[in-house]
Amino acid sequence: MASTKPLAKKIWLNGKLVSWKNANVHVLTHALHYGSAVFEGIRFYSTPKGPAIFRLDDHINRLFSSASVLDMKVPFTKKQIRKAVIDTVRVNKLTEGYIRPLIFYGAKALGLDPRNIPVEVTIIAIPFPRLFAKKTIKVKTSSFIRLHPHSTIASAKISGHYVNSILASMEAKKAGYDEALMFDFKGNIAEGSGENFFLVKNNVIKTASLEDILPGITRASLIKVAIKLGYEVDEAELDEHDIATCDEAFFSGTAAEITPISKIDDVLINEGKVGDVTLRLQEKFYDIVHGNDNQYEGWLTYVR
Ligand SMILES: Cc1ncc(COP(=O)(O)O)c(C=O)c1O
Repeated sequence: MASTKPLAKKIWLNGKLVSWKNANVHVLTHALHYGSAVFEGIRFYSTPKGPAIFRLDDHINRLFSSASVLDMKVPFTKKQIRKAVIDTVRVNKLTEGYIRPLIFYGAKALGLDPRNIPVEVTIIAIPFPRLFAKKTIKVKTSSFIRLHPHSTIASAKISGHYVNSILASMEAKKAGYDEALMFDFKGNIAEGSGENFFLVKNNVIKTASLEDILPGITRASLIKVAIKLGYEVDEAELDEHDIATCDEAFFSGTAAEITPISKIDDVLINEGKVGDVTLRLQEKFYDIVHGNDNQYEGWLTYVR
């Protein structure tokens, strides 16, 4: 049964815009049993020229590359999905929000190998406020490690991967924190449950290298912006020592945007205040996504 409280008027499902209550799948859906789906999270923001989707083509490219990891024969082209995303935002008359394209193996059989199962696609656009309704968050290092790079293809945004994130996030929240920070199998900092991690030390911005994390589109955007602002950015192996000695820390992600971190376990960061570098990047980010920085206009797709 669909939720009784619609979050959107229309949902795009397999080529058609359907009502909230008709956007349903069968219980035999392969993805429901095994996590055999891939997805994206995309934000769109209000700008002086109407709503604009941030880095739409990069998200669609990542979506299709995730789908190819699961050998999915997507029954739509990138161009069709791009148009469908724009149509879905437009038809719901939203000015700001979050878009969730999901490609999944549908309902036909129960065996693990899904390659003969039809591939279905849905696109959901909903209002979406700040992920964390506070200025800074408290983070707990997780007892769950990020998926081993040889256990999966970490760069693909596969639904099944998110059980790892769910466990880490629940553990952190049960312990009174806002979010989890996971390490990799080598003991280096990997990422949050749905965010990439950055820290600042002596004005140098550092973030985990791409080996076993999701290559975040916000992460890549921030690296570019930070370098243009004149900062040195170091993609490195970071560990607990870097947490203990950093000046600032923050998460980046489509949902989390730029979320300053005030505490990691018992370590208070920048006396619990948002650091100068974090603040500068955060302000620049909001200028860009709200269409107030011409330099990055190419990252915006206007919904007209
Ligand atoms: C595990 C994980 N890491 C990082 C990110 C940040 O990626 P992006 O900036 O592309 O949203 C996300 C969100 O998509 C995520 O789920």
